[in-house]
Amino acid sequence: MPAGLAGVVALAGAALVVSVTGVVLTRRGRPFGTGPLTVHKLVALAAMVYYGPLAYRAGRSSGLDGFEGAVLAAGVAVLLVAFASGGAVSAMKEPPAWIVWSHRIGSWAAIAVSAGGLALLA
Ligand code: HEM
Repeated sequence: MPAGLAGVVALAGAALVVSVTGVVLTRRGRPFGTGPLTVHKLVALAAMVYYGPLAYRAGRSSGLDGFEGAVLAAGVAVLLVAFASGGAVSAMKEPPAWIVWSHRIGSWAAIAVSAGGLALLA
């Protein structure tokens, strides 16, 4: 398990903080509160900086099969989509609905797929 128990607990905690602050942002609407938005994006960034290299190293070094490698790669890809769409939603004054919804839906997919990838490494 390359992440170790402490790493898994940290990533689970980060997913919880990002989910709760995300739902708070959606429910309160615009203008987005600086506090929840800052916590949301910084914790999301920290989790990605941790998860990306972990998945990369695991993919290169150990004997993962094609399915496991694909889940890990998909986890990183959907996290990048969630990050980019989140950045666009918060930066644009009136983002198109498809960007808003790609963040609202894509981010849950990112959390689920990356958690699945982590479970495969256990
Ligand atoms: C890995 C990256 C990210 C994940 C997993 C994530 C996750 C989430 C989740 C779960 C929600 C709530 C969706 C719902 O209500 O069902 C949300 C909302 C939101 N997130 Fe993120 N987020 C990420 C990155 C970002 C970033 C980088 C930003 C800004 C720079 C951001 C800004 C927002 C905003 C503004 C909302 C409210 C959108 C709305 O409903 O209008 N997110 N996010």
